[in-house]
Amino acid sequence: MSDKLGEMRRTHNCNRLGTADVGKEVVLMGWVQRRRDHGGVIFVDLRDREGLTQVVFNPEIEPQVHEKAHDLRNEYVLGVRGTVQPRPEGMINPNLPTGTIEVMVNELRIFNAAETPPFLIEDRIDVSENVRLKYRHVDLRRSRLQKNLITRHRAAQNVRSYLNKSGFLELETPMLTKATPEGARDYLVPSRVNPGKFYALPQSPQLFKQLFMIAGFEKYYQIVRCFRDEDLRADRQPEFTQIDVEMSFVGEEEIMEMTEGMMAQLFDEICGIELPRPFPRLTYAESVARYGLDKPDIRFDLELTDLSDIMKDVGFKVFAGAVKSGGVVKAINAKGCIDFSRKELDDLTEFVSIYKAKGMAWIKVREDAWQSPIAKFFSDPEKAAITERLNIEPGDLILFGADSEKVVNESLGHLRNHLGKRLGLIDENAFAFTWVTEFPLAEYDPAEKRYDPLHHPFTAPMDEDMEMLETDTGAVRAKAYDLVLNGFELGGGSIRVHRTDIQRKIFEAIGLKPEESEEKFGFLLSALDSGAPPHGGIALGFDRLIMLLCRESSIRDVIAFPKTQKAACLMTDAPSDADKKQLDELSIRVRMMD
Ligand code: AMO
Ligand code: AMP
Repeated sequence: MSDKLGEMRRTHNCNRLGTADVGKEVVLMGWVQRRRDHGGVIFVDLRDREGLTQVVFNPEIEPQVHEKAHDLRNEYVLGVRGTVQPRPEGMINPNLPTGTIEVMVNELRIFNAAETPPFLIEDRIDVSENVRLKYRHVDLRRSRLQKNLITRHRAAQNVRSYLNKSGFLELETPMLTKATPEGARDYLVPSRVNPGKFYALPQSPQLFKQLFMIAGFEKYYQIVRCFRDEDLRADRQPEFTQIDVEMSFVGEEEIMEMTEGMMAQLFDEICGIELPRPFPRLTYAESVARYGLDKPDIRFDLELTDLSDIMKDVGFKVFAGAVKSGGVVKAINAKGCIDFSRKELDDLTEFVSIYKAKGMAWIKVREDAWQSPIAKFFSDPEKAAITERLNIEPGDLILFGADSEKVVNESLGHLRNHLGKRLGLIDENAFAFTWVTEFPLAEYDPAEKRYDPLHHPFTAPMDEDMEMLETDTGAVRAKAYDLVLNGFELGGGSIRVHRTDIQRKIFEAIGLKPEESEEKFGFLLSALDSGAPPHGGIALGFDRLIMLLCRESSIRDVIAFPKTQKAACLMTDAPSDADKKQLDELSIRVRMMD
């Protein structure tokens, strides 16, 4: 047998062969998924990124090749030449695309042996995520992750094609840059040639994409890496990817329409799903009132109901007191859930305490009476009012929150999602998009004693609220919108401020002194003065989008080389110590603080 790879050129992938190929000579290359030795004939499932083909080594046909096949173990890398033949009667595997055929091998090349893998290359494996991340190159061989990354590739191409045909330019922005405020901590990079000075890795290309608009490029996009040093969760990574878009001479409608078009093409071409359009819209105020959260999962009802007006004078001091001190009382009617045990109710109370709720009063609605620790506090007319407001029927379980608006909405909002899952109210196959609009421009931070922008400080106030900017900053609504999918914040954007006087006022309203605004954003202010068109944009979390498309529950399963909750790469052991020489060059001395 020749040792030249060129003489063994791959002719097919491992999922391509079928009955129509019977009789053909083919060359396949891939990894040994499994070897079965039936005391004579040896069967190997050969795997590549497309799938599996069964290849057969028969001692009666090619004794030498069969002899060599005894050495094969899982994950060996092979090339085989052979003839496609139909599988014998009874050996057809209907679960495998290539299950009607097999390849009778007459030439085998072992490109490489492999050590026993740390875990099996199968979809359902019982191994910790840390082991998977340490051997990510092996983990990525599993078909689920291969499919996820192939979907990721197809989605990126699809988005590019949509934006290209809509007249967008794909332009790059710097990675070594100055801090832009997206609300997280920055990753800093020391500058060797400017000792003691640092670049920040971009939390997003926000200011650069605005500068592209000011420079006249009209429509920009980039599928771009962003870096944020924040507490990590299943849907957050320290480096992640955005589909970042900016447009000139547009308002909110055009940006929402463009985004819906992008999602419609993507879901149609990648999953064959026709998304109903236009996507529903909720204002921030409506979303929080009905669902408790600004990223509502609208796949199910179980909405929150405000009872503050009924509760303000009731005998239960926790409820009346909450309303009197400016808070609210709200409830969820969990229909038909009267059978929840004491333990289950305690667990739910513990669940809401994560969101700072101090308790979770409940009522079980029996045919004849209310069973509840707080029923005794309500008069008959109060009971009647509650019954009517919550549409109460026998068999229902009512769950209450009483506190500041923020605590009640957050705790009941998350409780709603929790119950939705637990009660099986969610159609797991549905993709429910919604826009959330009219976000507040800024939120008061009592600890810092100043307003913080809810989106970022370049977001334009709504025209009708502009005059409250200095007098009642907290009440000003912004031209900002989030795109929500199945309860996840998929993206967010806004129409930007394009006039220096308004930008200065906003900096002032969020507590930046003029010299600070100048130091941090002087370049933007000067750019706005150079002739800035009205502009706006959006950024979609690409990892979250792929996670939802692939029906995964963690973005780590759609990112090739993700980091752990502690922002570490277990494969390369990053982050790690730096050489003394390297630190000296950077004029940096490391001293750990206590
Ligand atoms: P924003 O900060 O809302 O907006 O980010 C846009 C989207 O990016 C995704 N995202 C993340 N995904 C994974 N891990 C993270 N740590 C992470 N942080 C954010 C979310 C989010 O909706 N410059 C503005 C956009 C604009 O105004 O045009 C911005 O970055 O899905
Ligand atoms: P207590 O009178 O403190 O025993 O509380 C009676 C019921 O009210 C219990 O079920 C508590 O969990 C509930 N409760 C207490 N504080 C709150 C609150 N802030 N919001 C909702 N329910 C509460």
